[in-house]
Amino acid sequence: MTALLDMLGCRYPIIHGPVGAMNSSKLVAAICEAGAFGMLAMGFMSDLQEAKRLVKEVQKLTDKPFGANLSIMNPVNQNILEILADAGVKAVTTSAGSPRHIYPQIHALGMTGMHVVLSFPHAVKAIDAGVDGLVVSGLESGGLRSTGPESTTMVLVPLVVDHVNVPVVAAGGIADSRGYRAALALGAQGVQVGTRFIASEESPAPTEWKNAILNCGDGETSLLPLGNLNIRVIVNPKLREKMDSPDVDLTQEYNLINAPQAWNSGDFDLFPAGAGQVSALIKEIKPVKAIIEEIVSEGR
Ligand SMILES: Cc1cc2nc3c(=O)[nH]c(=O)nc-3n(C[C@H](O)[C@H](O)[C@H](O)COP(=O)(O)O)c2cc1C
Repeated sequence: MTALLDMLGCRYPIIHGPVGAMNSSKLVAAICEAGAFGMLAMGFMSDLQEAKRLVKEVQKLTDKPFGANLSIMNPVNQNILEILADAGVKAVTTSAGSPRHIYPQIHALGMTGMHVVLSFPHAVKAIDAGVDGLVVSGLESGGLRSTGPESTTMVLVPLVVDHVNVPVVAAGGIADSRGYRAALALGAQGVQVGTRFIASEESPAPTEWKNAILNCGDGETSLLPLGNLNIRVIVNPKLREKMDSPDVDLTQEYNLINAPQAWNSGDFDLFPAGAGQVSALIKEIKPVKAIIEEIVSEGR
């Protein structure tokens, strides 16, 4: 058994990548039942009763271990960590900020944590802060990105693996057995999968979002600037028109605050659909069990 599997307590080293504020106990439980590590997205959670309810709901549907993702900036992280620890959750991931202060809290509650990093310098800093593992996310990934220069998963994962002695999980660009095996060959002990699970049968994403992923071809995602951050989105006609227009400042056109409403309703003129470059490889909506079985199979 690898250190990662020991930490997660599941069968396969596949972590369900959190997606904004989108939560579905059914999806988390289905991922756990299929042998991977389901995750609640607690990064934007402010309602502690809702946090408790989600944890309970997952536990009604599965007795397998699951985790949660926290965003460093969330002021109620300590309360969320206590709810998770009380419920017996053993592992969390943390994103978007310096992990320095939260790791003593995670460890004091008897949990372990892996920090999501987008660059080599951030990986080094996270190790200094005492993280138990790293989720190393290359630039092809879905989700928030930095505005600085970034490397692909193919480059960033081995770079980090060579310099740390905690488990590394590769994130970004992985949707099938080829990506999974490539990540392991790069030295990662596991993978984090985001976009592929959005386009799953159990995902609560609206059909419009799932279809946008299925219809997304090579080169049809882009980094949308949000000021001090970027987010990877699927380019739609409205966004294409704005991108092609030299006078338009995209940071004034789209506000991240509208993303949950847009993504829940499929209104991608309000805010474009979030997804990774790997969308180009996703051609079918499948149950998570089939997705996970294909990922860990000997493959094509
Ligand atoms: C629409 C979208 C929203 C995301 N939101 C978050 C988030 O809130 N916190 C986080 O740590 N990662 C977030 N991610 C990143 C995923 O958890 C995961 O690491 C990433 O999707 C992996 O790359 P892939 O999309 O190529 O599978 C998001 C990804 C997507 C596609």
